[in-house]
Amino acid sequence: MSKVSEFVSKHHQQNVEELKELLRIPSISSLSEHKEDIQKTASWIADKLKNIGMEHVEVIETKGHPVIYADWLHQEKAPTVLVYGHYDVQPVDPLHLWETPPFEPDIRDEKIFARGATDDKGQTFLHIKAVETLLALNGKLPVNVKFCIEGEEEIGSPNLPQFISENKEKLACDVVVISDSDMWDKGVPAITYSLRGLCALEVSLKTANTDLHSGMFGGGVQNANQLLVQLLSTLHDANGKVNVAHFYDDVVELTAFEKEQIKALGFDEEKLKQSLGLTELTGGENNYPYPEKISSRPTLEINGLWGGFQGEGTKTVIPNEAHAKITCRLVHNQQPEKIQESVKKHLEEHAPKGCTIEVTLQDTGNPFLTPIDSPMIQKAAEAYQNVYGQSPVYKREGGSIPIVSDFNQALNAPVVLMGFGLPDENLHAPNEHFNLENFDKGILTICSFLELI
Ligand code: BES
Ligand code: MN
Ligand code: MN
Repeated sequence: MSKVSEFVSKHHQQNVEELKELLRIPSISSLSEHKEDIQKTASWIADKLKNIGMEHVEVIETKGHPVIYADWLHQEKAPTVLVYGHYDVQPVDPLHLWETPPFEPDIRDEKIFARGATDDKGQTFLHIKAVETLLALNGKLPVNVKFCIEGEEEIGSPNLPQFISENKEKLACDVVVISDSDMWDKGVPAITYSLRGLCALEVSLKTANTDLHSGMFGGGVQNANQLLVQLLSTLHDANGKVNVAHFYDDVVELTAFEKEQIKALGFDEEKLKQSLGLTELTGGENNYPYPEKISSRPTLEINGLWGGFQGEGTKTVIPNEAHAKITCRLVHNQQPEKIQESVKKHLEEHAPKGCTIEVTLQDTGNPFLTPIDSPMIQKAAEAYQNVYGQSPVYKREGGSIPIVSDFNQALNAPVVLMGFGLPDENLHAPNEHFNLENFDKGILTICSFLELI
């Protein structure tokens, strides 16, 4: 390892400068005004991959944002690794809470601050740098490597499933490696062995054919806001359980062993409450411990709620329409489409008298679960041990990377989620950053993994 770590230290400054270049391009996938920036980012990465010695580099157009493919396939007898990452980022609002502008990377406290620093440009870049390092030192890689880097993860990867199923041969591999998750804590690495899935819906409720004067009609005519709140209040019971029929049908309870493991990892409730400014933690199902609730239990959240008057001052009005956006986080063995239908049915059946409702079904993404004793995961653990001097924690993640289960199933390959972020790096929030300690260590861990397998 020493040759590799010497090389990585020597190039630290240059590597950071290159990452800054990548972070300067505002590749926000959800906003059409950034379409050109998306293209720019894709070609920046493609050029980088060419420069480090990757071959067959392509920027492949899809119905949405392009996918970058590249490979290096000169180890006939060795396994093939497919690296997945995403170059798109979340929007930056609220902008005024950023200490430095989101697309002007700034280093403070050995951390690099910018949108995408940890999610996921910074972490994807580690793989590019690991390959560059090994190619520069040895003129070859210990294994075959393919890259598949997409630009639509933050909008649910709408076009990647089709891309994968149409390019199974091209993407064929023995393992998919992804760095788009976090470690357990500073200095304590983690391998994520489960991700939650997702499904989204929107509900619109309508009453009269117009807004009405609340003096002239109030007391006699139904109020859309009130009916929507009534409807939404039927979605959970008094114990925080989701009250939708069949919602939990396919949920597999954790084994006693897993529950023990989660408990053993420890959880400081007071510290969390303090950091969040909460006096109580009352979300979700009453009868589950917090660490299980946020990783291994399905949820239904009302993400947005609007209707009626929101301007300055008072308006005596009875609104005639109201809307809500809902998403569910789903766990292993639940099918997003099935849950979506159950929620839709619940909303339709519980719609109060005197209104019409319309429920639209939106994105879905499958949950993911993989056994932790698989050989590839064990190699990743060894690599972490080599670099961090500590074996990784195995954890279930509450967040989602919707495409992971597609890779797993379509390519019939194990997926290893080797994260290098930290839980407090503000992903999706103002002042997103990436700890530079895990920048060099991340590159070294990936190099070690490639050598070990
Ligand atoms: N990298 C995250 C998911 C994640 C976060 C994994 C923290 C592990 C730890 C990913 O980019 C993400 O934000 N996913 C979205 C998916 C959605 C936009 C379809 C999520 O989980 O909300
Ligand atoms: Mn991500
Ligand atoms: Mn994200």
